[in-house]
Amino acid sequence: MPEPPPENPVADTEDAAVGTFSDDEQGSVAHVYTVEPIAERDGRTDELIAGFLDAGERERFERFIPEHSRLEFLTGRVLLRSVLAKCLGVKPAEVGFEIDENGKPHLANNIGHDLQFNLSHTRGLVACAVCRAHPIGVDVEIIEPARATAGIAERFFSRAETAELATLKGNDRVGRFFKIWTLKEAYIKAHGRGMRVGLGNFSVELAERSVGISFADRIDDDPAAWQFISANPTARHFLAVAIRHGAAAAPLDIRVTQWAGLSHL
Ligand SMILES: CC(C)(COP(=O)(O)OP(=O)(O)OC[C@H]1O[C@@H](n2cnc3c(N)ncnc32)[C@H](O)[C@@H]1OP(=O)(O)O)[C@@H](O)C(=O)NCCC(=O)NCCS
Repeated sequence: MPEPPPENPVADTEDAAVGTFSDDEQGSVAHVYTVEPIAERDGRTDELIAGFLDAGERERFERFIPEHSRLEFLTGRVLLRSVLAKCLGVKPAEVGFEIDENGKPHLANNIGHDLQFNLSHTRGLVACAVCRAHPIGVDVEIIEPARATAGIAERFFSRAETAELATLKGNDRVGRFFKIWTLKEAYIKAHGRGMRVGLGNFSVELAERSVGISFADRIDDDPAAWQFISANPTARHFLAVAIRHGAAAAPLDIRVTQWAGLSHL
């Protein structure tokens, strides 16, 4: 059995040369890039809008309220198109998306590539995850203690998760709340069916250095097919990644890196 990957593997170095998978990495590595969202709209922002958003995305950008959500969306598209363009060897503007019936974006018109990706944004942080062949989901959340209530846990978490949370107090409870939240979101985002999966139908299982999952009897899924990591890319954020590599395959090496590319554009 391969060693499980470390739980908090966030690299503390910046890496502008993102998105390349060397031949020996193919299928065995997942890259996760995090970036602080653009803080305010200025002339440079307008250049990014023109260079990185298609017509539909520009309309969406203008509809977002408040302003920080708008800029998180823009930052997400800049990050995603930059990373995928590097992987595909094309220009960022040539990366097209199609949205499936559950709202999950996939690559359009890039036939022959098996890249899988996912995106998440929250106040102060944007992340994208990319790997080959395996469904992948990423979630980032800002830690807001006021959201970590028993009522929200009872509404969204499984019974086992809620019971475990109730044994904790103070910062331990808040941290555990957002760890569970992001892991559950990462799972449903990798799955792609969104909230239709049923958040109470599965439980994330937290050991000291690893994360697993268990399913209610009515769910036809295999815990051995899944891999998770949880990390704190900043002191204010939780990040989780879920990958379905399949029961027969080894876990991937998941590398989390701060993306410095925004300042080079
Ligand atoms: C839409 C959803 C996939 C994630 O929403 P979210 O956590 O608010 O937002 P995130 O920033 O993490 O993710 C949004 C991105 O995920 C991607 N996405 C959208 N639908 C998706 C789906 N069905 N599956 C995977 N990814 C999806 C998109 O890229 C989207 O960003 P974009 O609109 O800029 O392209 C969905 O899970 C949802 O509605 N969640 C509700 C949150 C909740 O109540 N969670 C309970 C806590 S356990």
